[in-house]
Amino acid sequence: MTTERNATMRGGNRFKLAVFGSNCSSGRAATKVPERWENTFEDNVRLARMSDEIGIECMVPIGRWKGYGGATNFEGSTFETITWACGLLAATRYLTVFGTVHVAIFPPVLAAKQIVTADHIGQGRFGLNIVCGWNQDEFDMFGLEQDPHDDRYARGREWLEILTRMWSEEEPFDYAGRYYQLRGVTGRPLPWGGRRPILMNAGNSVTGRTFGARHCDMVFDQPHYLDAARDRIVETRRVAGELGREIQVFTSGAVVCRPTQNEADEYFRYFAVEHRDDEAIDTMFKLYLNPANQRSMTREQLETLRARYGAGYGGLLAVGDPDTVANEFKKLADAGFDGFCFSFVAYNDELPYFAQEVIPRLERMGLRKPFRP
Ligand SMILES: Cc1cc2nc3c(=O)[nH]c(=O)nc-3n(C[C@H](O)[C@H](O)[C@H](O)COP(=O)(O)O)c2cc1C
Repeated sequence: MTTERNATMRGGNRFKLAVFGSNCSSGRAATKVPERWENTFEDNVRLARMSDEIGIECMVPIGRWKGYGGATNFEGSTFETITWACGLLAATRYLTVFGTVHVAIFPPVLAAKQIVTADHIGQGRFGLNIVCGWNQDEFDMFGLEQDPHDDRYARGREWLEILTRMWSEEEPFDYAGRYYQLRGVTGRPLPWGGRRPILMNAGNSVTGRTFGARHCDMVFDQPHYLDAARDRIVETRRVAGELGREIQVFTSGAVVCRPTQNEADEYFRYFAVEHRDDEAIDTMFKLYLNPANQRSMTREQLETLRARYGAGYGGLLAVGDPDTVANEFKKLADAGFDGFCFSFVAYNDELPYFAQEVIPRLERMGLRKPFRP
């Protein structure tokens, strides 16, 4: 392992693996099955240590402040992501742990200080996933009114500029922007090793994806179907390339891996269809369809994705025996993705089988190399 910061995320494996959403109760599966993720910190530490040992590149949390109700109050119990990352970074050695940070909720100087603290705990392994916000219900808890959609990204640009200036300029500076007017800004220490953490952005709209391509090292794209992915990835790389920047594109979804296809399909039907928390999903859809919140999905699109919301937040699926799951990952790599952020229903019970059966197949496919710390 090199001493480069966020070493697992730079170079390395052709196709990277990220464990997603374990800071939330039920993770990313809106399901009522009793084995769903409870989200204790102890279980998060177990998951992080196991991920670290098998060479998973990173863990990515969800920035969530309020549950979606329903029988399970889906994602009603969540850990704040920078402090969650601090604990996991202290318990691990290699992987990058992201914080998913809402621009408008965290004043930039406070965010910069918290991020640097986490980054020193992890000796350069903190990653920053910037989210510009979508859910006014959550912002209401902070007494904040969201900016109009595209302005959220304009605010994000200023916020990020303040952070990067704090991490690159010697002298205190004043900042006179549209969203922030600050005086005498300074902050030490610098991030670990003097260089800023790796930056990711998750935005689905054209404005969101453009923001990520211009300002971040990674974007988190969520096309509904793989067919649509290729063009979007090319476009994201083009926007970044015009600025002389390289960008990684990840997507997200859920994995169900069992010894046979039949077992995997049955388990999927059990948790994501028969025992789905439809009431929680109805709340999510209502929020998504409020034009003040986001603008990238229609009701028709959402309804066709209902089982996927039961499984993993509408993301892509890899459900099957180990060969099928490995092949689904290969399809993502072939479409141009650099990595996959995925969740399980019961992370700690399911990750060992995935590590034992799927990761070696990915190695044989040339997508990954055996992990040698
Ligand atoms: C894969 C993915 C992950 C996301 N994760 C979060 C999150 O953890 N917290 C959050 O508030 N928003 C999250 N978002 C929402 C986006 O940051 C963004 O606010 C939302 O997609 C609406 O903006 P848009 O219309 O530009 O896409 C995520 C979006 C995607 C596509």
